[in-house]
Amino acid sequence: MLSALSAYQRGLAGHPSQICYAVKANPSLAVIQLMAQAGCGFDVVSGGEIARVLAAGGLASRIVFSGVGKTRSEMVDALCAGIGCFNVESVPELELLDQVAHNMGLRAPVSLRVNPDVDAKTHAYIATGQKVNKFGIAHDDVLSAYQRAAAMPGLDIKGIACHIGSQITVIDPYLSAIDRMMDLVLAIHAAGIRLSHLDLGGGLGINYNGETPPDAEQLLRQILARLDARGFGDLTLMIEPGRSLVGNAGVCLTEVLYLKPGDPKNFCIVNAAMNDLPRPAMYQAFHQMVPVCVRPDPLVTWDVVGPVCESGDWLGRDRLLAVEQGDLLAVLSAGAYCMSMASNYNSRSRAAELMVDGPNAHLIRSREALSDQMRHERLLA
Ligand code: LLP
Repeated sequence: MLSALSAYQRGLAGHPSQICYAVKANPSLAVIQLMAQAGCGFDVVSGGEIARVLAAGGLASRIVFSGVGKTRSEMVDALCAGIGCFNVESVPELELLDQVAHNMGLRAPVSLRVNPDVDAKTHAYIATGQKVNKFGIAHDDVLSAYQRAAAMPGLDIKGIACHIGSQITVIDPYLSAIDRMMDLVLAIHAAGIRLSHLDLGGGLGINYNGETPPDAEQLLRQILARLDARGFGDLTLMIEPGRSLVGNAGVCLTEVLYLKPGDPKNFCIVNAAMNDLPRPAMYQAFHQMVPVCVRPDPLVTWDVVGPVCESGDWLGRDRLLAVEQGDLLAVLSAGAYCMSMASNYNSRSRAAELMVDGPNAHLIRSREALSDQMRHERLLA
């Protein structure tokens, strides 16, 4: 995690910048705490994520608040906390934020999130920067939205933002996005509105199954060179990486409950399921699996599945493994969007989490108890 972060820090060295860790990838308090200690700011998408950042010692002034559906009460809480910037995603949101801030006697720091209409070349569910996606303000409407924002007394324009998708494994979409963003910055400056930062979002992919995503340091150097070449060297570059900081730092350990060989499928039933690690069920995502104890037995092809009552509850298909009942399997690259998307489906309690630092392991989240699951429920009187 920290070595992935240092690649970003090296790439940005010597340039005004801020790394805002995307909390949704892994919102564990201890993860946020380490990121804060390493100087990160945070990209958040809810009042809950703001509360987590503050509880873990992150600075409110380094929070950027993204998301298409911020509520009035989230706006109030974010303004009270003194967050760094709202990344506003529509004109009605601008109007509400102006009203809320004005009523509080404040000016809300804002960027507009642009939908740059760039193909991030990733899974459709995690592409966010094209016209068909709900995110951001359409490229063609951005200048007039800035002009409206500039006339609103409750807003203080700070910058411009975009985020084109997730698990991006090629450089071109980033370069197209930065070019389109710089065209907009030029037009906005020409209209007499000054921007002090450009937030390029997150999205850099990781290696799940032999992908070769660009190196963060090199990617940032190319982006900065493009900014400098167009005379925008004094704009603070902000980025919002999530997966690429934590994804490969986590594994999900699971026990083989039963082996059920058959025709045409052999099923290896483990005690983790789609509620713990939803990415395969949701995106047909691939996570490597490694037996913790290596057996000399011949390899057999297994579908690794969980106990949840759905045929979509699988963690890996057609995996060559030598395993026996009671063995532990490590599901790799589980540090991002696994625990953060876990649920209690089938009334299954969420797992415990440990943070490992060299020879030391720290319990950072206890295993959920059944009483935790039922805590907020009431029987009828
Ligand atoms: N900034 C914004 C505004 C975002 O919406 C996201 C992710 C990020 C930053 C961080 O992106 P990253 O660097 O982690 O790619 N659950 C999906 C991923 C959803 C990503 C949503 N937005 C998955 O498991 O693949």
